[in-house]
Amino acid sequence: MDTPKKRIFSGIKPSGELTLGSYIGAIRNWVALQNDYDCLYCIVDMHAITVRQNPADLRRRTLEQLAQYIACGLDPEKNIVYIQSHVPAHAELSWVLGCYTMFGELSRMTQFKDKSRKNADNINAGLFTYPVLMAADILLYQADLVPVGEDQKQHVEIARDIAGRFNQVYSPTFTLPEPFIPKTGARVMSLLDPSSKMSKSEQGGDGCITLLENPDDIMRAFKRAVTDSETSVRFDPEHKPGVSNLMTIYSCATGKSFAEIEAEFEGRGYGDFKTAVGESVVELLRPIREKTQELLANRDYLESIYAAGAERAARLAQKTLDKVYRKVGFVPRARG
Ligand code: TYM
Repeated sequence: MDTPKKRIFSGIKPSGELTLGSYIGAIRNWVALQNDYDCLYCIVDMHAITVRQNPADLRRRTLEQLAQYIACGLDPEKNIVYIQSHVPAHAELSWVLGCYTMFGELSRMTQFKDKSRKNADNINAGLFTYPVLMAADILLYQADLVPVGEDQKQHVEIARDIAGRFNQVYSPTFTLPEPFIPKTGARVMSLLDPSSKMSKSEQGGDGCITLLENPDDIMRAFKRAVTDSETSVRFDPEHKPGVSNLMTIYSCATGKSFAEIEAEFEGRGYGDFKTAVGESVVELLRPIREKTQELLANRDYLESIYAAGAERAARLAQKTLDKVYRKVGFVPRARG
């Protein structure tokens, strides 16, 4: 008999347009893993409202994100693709897990500290308990691996700690998840400020590339990318963060190694290099943009995908939730 495939769970917040960072750090790897693992890929809209959202924009971006997942190559037949708020078990398990998570450990989360600084007028309880909901996402499906970028490693680790604690108090209930972080592209930096992460919150400027951006804007952003006062294309993230970031992007877009890239641009200036990186990204994103537009024109198809996804996810989630409710001592619901 075949051994069952390992389980993967991951998600992205529809709090902004998908960026080249989320593609390189996460989605690209989801696509690569889909044949060898049993995968759930979620649009985590409940996480998005920890920061104030315009409702119409959130709805539009949620559907756009679903179309983009598929356009990037995720096969909705092979994977369970769905919207978090359609499966109530996420919120239900999150409440229980919150009772097994310490105030102190949530206070130490880097993202919470960061986001509180950036949203000083809205440091809400959801922002604080965000990692608990994320732990629920992962643990509901007994995920073995969680493919994410570097910035989410701490959140996967706390999910693992919460799972371990629950297992210890009761008996083995949850699989202990591990982060799965790519070797190249785990942290794509802003094109204008290579000391900070390319992020959705920087959108609209030339530091951040979104997946649906048009070729002219992409080329302009890469031509303006911050480099350094040398002229050599060499991978050295500490001393040459801008150039190294562009090399990472180029490597992910073309499949070339850093040594090949260094050889290709030996003796040529940064101008040529930036143009080549820009063109490689234009070509990488062109089919994704076109396919997304095609899919967005077919709302019925998208609805059929997220409806089927939620149904399949809910079935799996309920098994874990029932087990958890029984272990903590809740009276099982009367049947019929
Ligand atoms: P989010 O929505 O901020 O980011 C989505 C994914 O993209 C990765 N990423 C990057 N990787 C490399 N370079 C970048 N510049 C970059 N920007 C984003 C992130 O690491 C992430 O993998 N809390 C999560 C969403 C979430 C989740 C989950 C993830 C909710 N529940 C359960 C995994 C499992 C988040 O805010 O990701």
